[in-house]
Amino acid sequence: MFQINENYQKLPGNYLFSTIAKKVNAFQEANPDKELIRLGIGDVTQPIAPAIIEAMHSAVDEMAHAETFHGYAPDLGYEFLRKAIVENDYKARGCQVEIDEVFVSDGAKSDSGNIQEIFSENNRIAVCDPVYPVYVDSNVMAGRTGTYDKNTETWSNVIYMPCTAENNFVPEFPKETPDIIYLCLPNNPTGTTLTKAQLQEWVDYANKNGAVIIYDAAYEAYISEDDVAHSIYECEGARTCAIELHSFSKNAGFTGVRLGYTVVPKDLKCGDVSLNSMWARRHGTKFNGAPYIVQRAGEAVYSEAGKAQLKEQVAYYMKNAKTIKEGLKDAGYTVFGGVNAPYIWLKTPNQMTSWEFFDYLLEKANVVGTPGAGFGPSGEGYFRLTAFGEYENTVKALERIKSL
Ligand code: MLT
Repeated sequence: MFQINENYQKLPGNYLFSTIAKKVNAFQEANPDKELIRLGIGDVTQPIAPAIIEAMHSAVDEMAHAETFHGYAPDLGYEFLRKAIVENDYKARGCQVEIDEVFVSDGAKSDSGNIQEIFSENNRIAVCDPVYPVYVDSNVMAGRTGTYDKNTETWSNVIYMPCTAENNFVPEFPKETPDIIYLCLPNNPTGTTLTKAQLQEWVDYANKNGAVIIYDAAYEAYISEDDVAHSIYECEGARTCAIELHSFSKNAGFTGVRLGYTVVPKDLKCGDVSLNSMWARRHGTKFNGAPYIVQRAGEAVYSEAGKAQLKEQVAYYMKNAKTIKEGLKDAGYTVFGGVNAPYIWLKTPNQMTSWEFFDYLLEKANVVGTPGAGFGPSGEGYFRLTAFGEYENTVKALERIKSL
């Protein structure tokens, strides 16, 4: 008789955004006349930029002719894309990353869930609290997190680093030493970030303690302040302790197109075993590459026209962020984030729990957000709104919230 992976049975509830979608769909079904404004999941609303669409069209045409048709992509991704990544995301910022350290994938969500596979089951992970739920859930599935305590909503074998208004959302070095540290900067969900100097301290800590940092840079395009690093490899010593994940979803609107990449430096080793070789082995065995058409689209992200158009798109979303932040402040809310990230993190009013506030906003303003508690126990009492909506809807949502 077959047996299942019992670790899946330990997962409490569903994936956060699936739970929210279910609740919202039930509300909409019961109230078909209500016009909902969705500022919950960080899904983009603006169309793919023209330069990228053009590149996709010509890649589609190439696929129609035997001479230019493409089958399986190379294991690590097409060189044209990896070259563009290295030149623009790293060399231009003075970071050392080589072409064979870049692994193209179908997105940062998959990579952030899969990367834990190359580590021992005995490793102890440390996460910020609140945190993007994929990091924890994927480690639960792998059997690395111990037992779940319903009361504290924590796992016995996970080290939590609370990030709240009290510490300015800056994680403190944990008392127990972790083996794997997840950092998402600029942060999802709090929308806050660390200065480059603060990030350097984490790199030094990881190197000193033999830990690895899994650095999720999905929101890097939204950084507006000078003293914030766009890549962890801007910090000295990061090549021996950090893996970096990148997404094309947020900077180029690829949530439905699917493209991302992960950097595993060759200097990152456990004894004499290279993590780059391990990830290459995993990638080659379990992944057959992002589609040629999509990788050409990714290349166009780095074209001059692509860069200019995406700068405008990021500015569009950051105008939403400002609208939300200032609108909430005017309405008397305490708000964080929204300066270097497309997320606004607010304190729920009148001691409401974050799920109470979710229901209140849904029912009274017909606005969908994300309850902070869904990201971890320290998210209780907070709430996240995304700047990825349409501007007109964002303005309307704020008007509704202000008039509550
Ligand atoms: C979020 O809303 O946190 C993100 O959109 C989820 C994701 O990127 O997978």
